[in-house]
Amino acid sequence: MIKNIKKFYTASLKHQLIISIALVHTVMMSIFIYDLVKKEGTFLIEQHTKSAKSLSKTLASSSTSWVLSNDFVGLKEILTSMQNYPGVKYIIITNIEGEILSHTSKRYIGLYLSDDKSIEYLKGEVKTKIIFENSDYIDVVSPILRENQHIGWARISLSKELINKSLDDVILNGLFYTLLAIIIGVIVGYFISIGITKNIYKILQVIQKVKGGKKNIYSNVNRDDEIGILSKEFDYMLQKISEQTTLIDSVMKSSPDLIFYKDYSNFDGVYIGCNDQFSNFVGRSKDDIIGKTDFDLFDNKLALFFRKNDKLMLKSQKPYKNEEWVKYPDGSDILLESIKTPLYNLDGSILGVLGNSRDITQKYHDQKELEEKNKILFDQSKLASMGEMIGNIAHQWRQPLSVISTGATGLKLLKEYNTLTDQQFLEACDSINDNAQYLSKTIDDFKDFIKGERKKVKFNLSKDINSFLHLVEGSIKNNNIHLEKDIQDDIEIYGYPNELIQCFINIFNNSKDALKDLEDNRYIYISTSILDNKVIITFKDNAGGIDDEILNRIYEPYFTTKHKSQGTGLGLSMTYSLVVDGMGGSIETKNDQLTIDGKKYKGAITKITLEL
Ligand SMILES: Nc1ncnc2c1ncn2[C@@H]1O[C@H](COP(=O)(O)OP(=O)(O)O)[C@@H](O)[C@H]1O
Ligand SMILES: [Mg+2]
Repeated sequence: MIKNIKKFYTASLKHQLIISIALVHTVMMSIFIYDLVKKEGTFLIEQHTKSAKSLSKTLASSSTSWVLSNDFVGLKEILTSMQNYPGVKYIIITNIEGEILSHTSKRYIGLYLSDDKSIEYLKGEVKTKIIFENSDYIDVVSPILRENQHIGWARISLSKELINKSLDDVILNGLFYTLLAIIIGVIVGYFISIGITKNIYKILQVIQKVKGGKKNIYSNVNRDDEIGILSKEFDYMLQKISEQTTLIDSVMKSSPDLIFYKDYSNFDGVYIGCNDQFSNFVGRSKDDIIGKTDFDLFDNKLALFFRKNDKLMLKSQKPYKNEEWVKYPDGSDILLESIKTPLYNLDGSILGVLGNSRDITQKYHDQKELEEKNKILFDQSKLASMGEMIGNIAHQWRQPLSVISTGATGLKLLKEYNTLTDQQFLEACDSINDNAQYLSKTIDDFKDFIKGERKKVKFNLSKDINSFLHLVEGSIKNNNIHLEKDIQDDIEIYGYPNELIQCFINIFNNSKDALKDLEDNRYIYISTSILDNKVIITFKDNAGGIDDEILNRIYEPYFTTKHKSQGTGLGLSMTYSLVVDGMGGSIETKNDQLTIDGKKYKGAITKITLEL
């Protein structure tokens, strides 16, 4: 019951206002009426008591002579005249012993009063007093005196019927006004509430419409009070939301990506929104997509794949990226790169999946093409550096070959003149053999370098540099280059030793080429060191350096300042990709100043940095 009343009361503002106003009226009126009745009652009773007392006094004084003379007929006349007084119930005249001298009911005359109340006043003080009083009547008695001598009692009983009746009238009136107040209260409450709620309902209706998807509608309540302010603020909010939505819509529209979102909180992956690109991809209108799942839109295999990725992301609650070949409705195959991120509700709980898929088919093909190109480039540059190496080896072989050939010719000559000693023979043979061994070693080194497998191994850097120096030994000598080394013996690297040698050769060859312009004092410095857990390999020359304008282009493939027959422009680009892409290191070339024998030179310095 109380629950129902509470429910009814809180159901609407109208109920609350009407009930409250009616209740206040009822309470206020009740208090007022209660107070009025109480005051009126007290007043009437006082009046009544007064008139009862004065009646009994009048009765006592007019009875005096009749009591003295024991004239019952005279007494009777007085009684009869007083009996008509409104509300008189009975009148009793007694002597002081309590013998009834006259009574409104004749049959009591001559009897004695014997009840407790009567005996109490007969024996009590001689004065006008109230004998008895209840809500219906009052009994009052006054002594009958003759010149201060007490001769009897005049008693009168006065009914309160009239008072009660007029009090009833007051109450009835009160009830009527209370009821009137309640009715007026209800009516006033009703109109006030209608005034207030009419506009609130207007705002509510707008909310319902906005919820239903309607756009650009406002509540427009034209009032200056709180409801007017509420409406204005609400409309402002709607306008802001509408601006935001337009912004998001146009972002989604202008994005070349496929954007979609699915609900996983209430449904099992139901689409709740997407952009035009996504709807093109699915080959259905947006309205036809919303409310569907992947299984309604795609073949089972693809749907399962999408679902799996959604679940993976939802489980980790972290953005999830994947690539997948899919077929467009027109039959074309495209490669999609999708990023799925959690979509949150306002309360922070997961609503579902926000997906962003990018068509990377072109990028994929470009990448493939680039890889292909790079492979060709790589092969070309390898060939180029092999050509340079063969040139190096040719230089390197010249000396031992001439040792061998002069050794053999010398032997032949000595033999012809018969002057060949055993000692000379053995020495010549040893020398020929040593040099042949040297030639063989050079070939082996070259073979190792050419054939070297591309396998990541742990290797000693100083040994690797020595192998490189061995391969360019002839070139160094032939070009009168002074090579200075500052190499740490114990550096071990995890990587590709042959590729590093190739890099060294490429850098060396550039210095060698540039040094050709110097008459003498051609220097190359090689040093290795460890800094911050990184290996640093530096090549430095005094060949004049590189023009600042081209310094940032030297790593570009096919960039060369040399004649066609001399340079391919591939050396440094290959070195860059071997160091940066192949070994995860970095490479930097700049110009440097150096002083040799008191003479100042400019030169190039190339620094390779590798992880230990
Ligand atoms: N040590 C150097 N001194 C001067 N110029 C250099 C040096 N190293 C590289 N270069 C410049 O960088 C260009 C590109 O070098 P590279 O890629 O090896 O191609 P190539 O040697 O075939 O020209 C060279 O043509 C040259 O101009
Ligand atoms: Mg080069």
